[in-house]
Amino acid sequence: MERPAKKNIVIFASGSGSNAQRLLEHFEHHPDIRVAALFSNNPNAYALKRAETYHVPAFLFSREEFYKSEKVLQQLQQFQPDLIVLAGFLWLVPQNLLRAFPDKIINIHPALLPQYGGKGMHGQHVHTAVIQAGEPESGITIHYINEEYDKGTFIRQERCPVLPSDTPADLAARVLQLEHLHLPQVVEQLLDQQDQPKKED
Ligand code: GRF
Repeated sequence: MERPAKKNIVIFASGSGSNAQRLLEHFEHHPDIRVAALFSNNPNAYALKRAETYHVPAFLFSREEFYKSEKVLQQLQQFQPDLIVLAGFLWLVPQNLLRAFPDKIINIHPALLPQYGGKGMHGQHVHTAVIQAGEPESGITIHYINEEYDKGTFIRQERCPVLPSDTPADLAARVLQLEHLHLPQVVEQLLDQQDQPKKED
C-alpha cells in the first residue's frame, strides 16, 4: 500500500528562530511530518538562514503584502499546511489567514497566559514584567490564535521557577529551554490527533 503523504508544518518567525531550529531538527527525518516552509516579515531574521540550512523554502513578506493582499495566503496554500506554527512571530495574523486555516494556527508565548500577554508583550518585556511583579513562577503557553494578541484556546502550559537573583535574560533562557523541549512534542501530538476521529459531545 502506498504511504500517505507527509503532513506539512509551516513556520512563521520574526527573529532568531531558535524554536524554528528545534522544529527543523526534530522533523528533519520524521517519517510522517515535515517542515514545508518558513515565512518571515523580517529580512534580517536569522530564522531565514536556519531554513536555508535545512533546505526548507523561505518566504519574506512586507506589511503591505500581509495585511492588504492575498499574496501570503496564496503562497501558503501551495504547501497545504496541516499546522502553522508561530515561533517568535510578532505580527497579528489577519482574518484571511484565520479563516483559511481554522484551528490550524498555533503560537508559543514565553509566559503563563492570560497574564503577561497582549500587544507589546514579547521578548524581554515579558520577562521584565514577570520579575518586577515578583512572580514565583513563569513558563510557556502554547495556544491556538485568534484575532487578538495572545488570546485563543490554550493547548499546553509548562512552568518553571523565577529565582530571586534572576535577570530578564536569566529567566528568558530558562523559559526558552521549556519552549525547545515542548514545542516539537506539542506539534507532533496535534498532528497525530488530526487523524483520530473527533469525540462526540
Ligand atoms: C520565544 O520566547 C517565543 O516564545 C517568543 O519569542 C521568542 C522567540 O525565540 N514568542 P526564537 O526566535 O524562537 O529564538
